[in-house]
Amino acid sequence: MEWWRHAVIYQVYPRSFADSDGDGVGDLPGITGRLGHLADLGVDALWLSPFYRSPMVDGGYDVSDYRDVDPVFGTLADFDALLAEAHRLGLRVIVDIVPNHTSSRHPWFVEGRRDRYIFRDTPNGWQSLFGGPAWTQVADGQWYLHLFAPEQPDLNWHNPDVRAEFDDILRFWLDRGVDGFRVDVAHGMIKDLAGVTLFDHEDVHEIHRGWRKILDSYPGDRMAVAEVFDTAPARVARYVSVGELHQAFNFDFLEAPWDPAVLRRIIDASLAAASQVGAPPTWVLSNHDRRRHVTRFGGVRRARAAALLMLGLPGSAYLYQGEELGLPEVLDLPDEVRTDPQWVRSGGAELGRDGCRVPLPWSGDAPPFGFGPGGSWLPQPADWAAVTVEAQRKDPHSTLSLYRDALRLRRPSTTLRWLDAPDGVLRFETETMRVAANLTAGPVRIEEPATLLLSSSEMAGELPGDTTAWWGV
Ligand code: GLC
Repeated sequence: MEWWRHAVIYQVYPRSFADSDGDGVGDLPGITGRLGHLADLGVDALWLSPFYRSPMVDGGYDVSDYRDVDPVFGTLADFDALLAEAHRLGLRVIVDIVPNHTSSRHPWFVEGRRDRYIFRDTPNGWQSLFGGPAWTQVADGQWYLHLFAPEQPDLNWHNPDVRAEFDDILRFWLDRGVDGFRVDVAHGMIKDLAGVTLFDHEDVHEIHRGWRKILDSYPGDRMAVAEVFDTAPARVARYVSVGELHQAFNFDFLEAPWDPAVLRRIIDASLAAASQVGAPPTWVLSNHDRRRHVTRFGGVRRARAAALLMLGLPGSAYLYQGEELGLPEVLDLPDEVRTDPQWVRSGGAELGRDGCRVPLPWSGDAPPFGFGPGGSWLPQPADWAAVTVEAQRKDPHSTLSLYRDALRLRRPSTTLRWLDAPDGVLRFETETMRVAANLTAGPVRIEEPATLLLSSSEMAGELPGDTTAWWGV
């Protein structure tokens, strides 16, 4: 089985993982120095959010040079060192590729190469995902399209130069040894300006088929995972059909409430859609764009149960840095430290995504909790002293220990069979284990013939409320 079919892939948001030089912003040497944590945790791979040269209007998702590391994160040599150390530890590395738009500081935009962007004399009515119109007017009266911030002009993928450039960028990183890519807004590159939907145009698939050929021309199971949001499972599956990409994120699962019926419906739909195209299903609870699931679900207890439910499902799972520590969303950041364009462009009406990007607490009793020798670009809550990696490593009941145990026990599986269960309980069997998730508040009696492997809270004969447990088969 190819590694990515059952991989657990850990997302690193480089600004907030670990800082080596004391400027308060995480960097590549910081990550390299902490790879032992990921190896201990037992993940298979890491996905690095963008570390390329960028004016950082959108946390690096506004790239001005796709073939270089931004000085705030280090150098290409630092990247090579990170990759070598990760591989030495048996961890694969996938990097983020941002093909829908560049930064407005990218040389093409600066030099006025309008044929490579989407310029029109008259804008249509589209709105930016970050609020306000999706068009900005330039001095001579023309308008350019930006689905995100004005500093992120959308590329014109009908121009062969754009295609050739991205083929070359993929090769640049594959030649350096990366194991694959996470494709930002993979359903956005082709637009029908006369249409009403911004995403999922038929012609994007041709781009992905071309990229798959490039990936397949390299040895060693290179892969790509597509970010395709606001799209039904059957449509998402087309991005991972034969000859296209390998995986797509499961945003329906990420957005699901703590509700057994809804979760079961999404699990069934996800498994069906993936199996029709022979792709592995994927699961995710948090990322750098969404409110952390501890906060969404209303507490660490449910977050732990959700994690064991997710990791018990067949297929591949994505973890977001800090969820293994049970970190909550930080909701009370002072206004003046918030940087997210969602916050800025909505005039503060939307809190935005800074609250899930607060730097990780590694050790010690006071901020920055070992994040680095200086401060941290977003302030950490004082009570994170209790949830540092150091504090949790020693505690067998900590969330960190739960994740580590789960990853050690998790085995590849491909099928799921639902089993009878009391109301409010999701119970199933895969080739490798039995799982029961009790989404009600009270305990339920579950008779399992096999040995209990792991549970998200303490078992007392019964399966307690808001708890998931695993048994062997
Ligand atoms: C993706 C990224 C998000 C970014 C957006 C624009 O959705 O995950 O962080 O803001 O693309 O690049």
